[in-house]
Amino acid sequence: MKRRAVIIGANGQLGHDLVRAVDEAGWDLRACVRADFDVCDHKAVTAALEAVRPDVVIDLAAFHKLELCEEDPGRAFAVNATAVHHLARETARLGAAFVFLSSDYVFAGDEPTPRIETDRCAPISIYGLAKRAGERLALGANPKTTVIRVSGLYGVAGPSGKGSNFVDTMMRLGREGKPLRVVDDQVLTPTYTPELARKIWHMLDAAPPGLYHCTNNGECSWHDFAAEIFRQAGLSVELSRQTTAQSGATAPRPAYSVLDNHALRGLGLDDMCPWQEALADYLRLKYPRN
Ligand SMILES: NC(=O)c1ccc[n+]([C@@H]2O[C@H](COP(=O)([O-])OP(=O)(O)OC[C@H]3O[C@@H](n4cnc5c(N)ncnc54)[C@H](OP(=O)(O)O)[C@@H]3O)[C@@H](O)[C@H]2O)c1
Repeated sequence: MKRRAVIIGANGQLGHDLVRAVDEAGWDLRACVRADFDVCDHKAVTAALEAVRPDVVIDLAAFHKLELCEEDPGRAFAVNATAVHHLARETARLGAAFVFLSSDYVFAGDEPTPRIETDRCAPISIYGLAKRAGERLALGANPKTTVIRVSGLYGVAGPSGKGSNFVDTMMRLGREGKPLRVVDDQVLTPTYTPELARKIWHMLDAAPPGLYHCTNNGECSWHDFAAEIFRQAGLSVELSRQTTAQSGATAPRPAYSVLDNHALRGLGLDDMCPWQEALADYLRLKYPRN
């Protein structure tokens, strides 16, 4: 018999690829978007879950614009923590598993080595604080919770509310031919959503509940990511470095937020490819060259 899965935030960047990657022979999928219910409307959430009685709920709904989270901590915590707690409690009541996507921004970013799952969290932004609260509330409310921390997502759909993803923005600006300055004091691992989506479905069968890091492998600054995009796309761009402060960003961002897929590796499940290979796949698909 098919298992029932609910995805919340299904038309977002990762949601788009998670829906596409589902094994339809094994899963009966209910892909929920904001028009179905607002994740902060707890009554509507409960009614929707009771109607489906899912085996797993995957929560991708997020309020992740960093500057807006600083301005509106109430909303940041409502979407990224309180709603997550409600989902975890309701899935536990229904005997379902719960998957919550979290972020590299739960770390302070002041240590220059990749973080593993058991490293101390010390978020420096409201978004990071809210995500960390969501993690703890979810893990505490449903023993069948899987928290997956990811970083620097890009995929064909583009992040909701943020306009285009970083690769698309660089491709557009690079093609305009003007000199570009890109931040060089934030290091992370860009992660490609189709590959992440396949891994999430796989983890549902292969990994026990718990806390996982799941990104592509390797690391780079945003500047070095841009340089690799232009190199692979064959664009000649006058690219220079700038600091986060020079970029005008106001919300605090970790300087080094690389995640080590330590727990997945321990299970023999870390076959995520190097970020440069994932980028090549994306560029081939979205910007085919003759
Ligand atoms: N993007 C990154 O680089 C990144 C990095 C680290 C972690 N993450 C985490 O990864 C997950 C997926 O990210 P993503 O880039 O795919 O995000 P996304 O494109 O913004 O998608 C989020 C989805 O959630 C929906 N949503 C937001 N608030 C909602 C609410 N109150 N009720 C119902 N639906 C709501 C959005 O709907 P609308 O389209 O209607 O707004 C959207 O479809 C999130 O948990 C995010 O925090 C992302």
